[in-house]
Amino acid sequence: MITVNNLPDLRQQIADWKQQGLRVAFVPTMGNLHDGHLSLLERGRQLCDRTVVSIFVNPIQFGKGEDYEKYPSTLEADRQKLESCGLDLLFTPNLKELYPGGMDVDTRVNVPELSTILCGKFRPDHFSGVATVVTKLLINVTANVALFGEKDFQQLLIIRRLVSELCIPTDIIGMPIIRETDGLAMSSRNAYLTATQRQLAPEIYRTLQKAAEKIQNQSNADFASIEIECMQKLELAGFRPEYVSVRRTSDLGAPGTNDRELSILVAAWLGTARLIDNIKVVTH
Ligand code: PAF
Repeated sequence: MITVNNLPDLRQQIADWKQQGLRVAFVPTMGNLHDGHLSLLERGRQLCDRTVVSIFVNPIQFGKGEDYEKYPSTLEADRQKLESCGLDLLFTPNLKELYPGGMDVDTRVNVPELSTILCGKFRPDHFSGVATVVTKLLINVTANVALFGEKDFQQLLIIRRLVSELCIPTDIIGMPIIRETDGLAMSSRNAYLTATQRQLAPEIYRTLQKAAEKIQNQSNADFASIEIECMQKLELAGFRPEYVSVRRTSDLGAPGTNDRELSILVAAWLGTARLIDNIKVVTH
């Protein structure tokens, strides 16, 4: 495994591979790697000849008072996991490498509409921060494919849209959520949960599963009352839910009567951890 921390070396290595006719898969991360990240790498290895993972905690996607300063950094453990999974290149840029003009004067990528709903309502600059850093990474890595987890489903759709509208020649692949055995979606932020909160946390997925069953079993299910019921259930269990929302899977718009492919998305605080999850429902 090669480790590179600057853009010229990254571009050179990838150009060498491309010259040999090798296909490259890319997995961008903020580190603190779990099996969800490793499943993306594994799929990348199946699809391509060479794999690249970046580890970069991107300050501009964190709001004021969010967890940028305390975001878990586990570089040595991450490095070992990546090495044993057969990664070819680890990219670990510092701030100056990706933000040479500083973060305040930085040019931003904004994906309108999709960035202001759901999580975007509660984290106003978050998706512009994600879109900006992912664009920087994609145009430098020039991978054939890049892989993202569906736990951050809104992020995945935003990235698909920016890649399409900025004509970036990388295929974006969404991969299923990887869950703990009790159903909790794997996330670096699960590390913030106390032992008691950790026991409670799978309730978020159980709530989604029950809501999905309801939608599947009732023709013309009343989405608004299902959303309210889920919010109340989560509050009673000790969460502070931000939203539970039934949306059209393709673009996260409000579902119409003919939409069959739906997603239920949730964001809820448990102690100091902001947890997100989602589930797909296909109706008949
Ligand atoms: O999903 C993440 O870990 C981050 O949002 C990403 C895509 C690496 C951008 O910083």
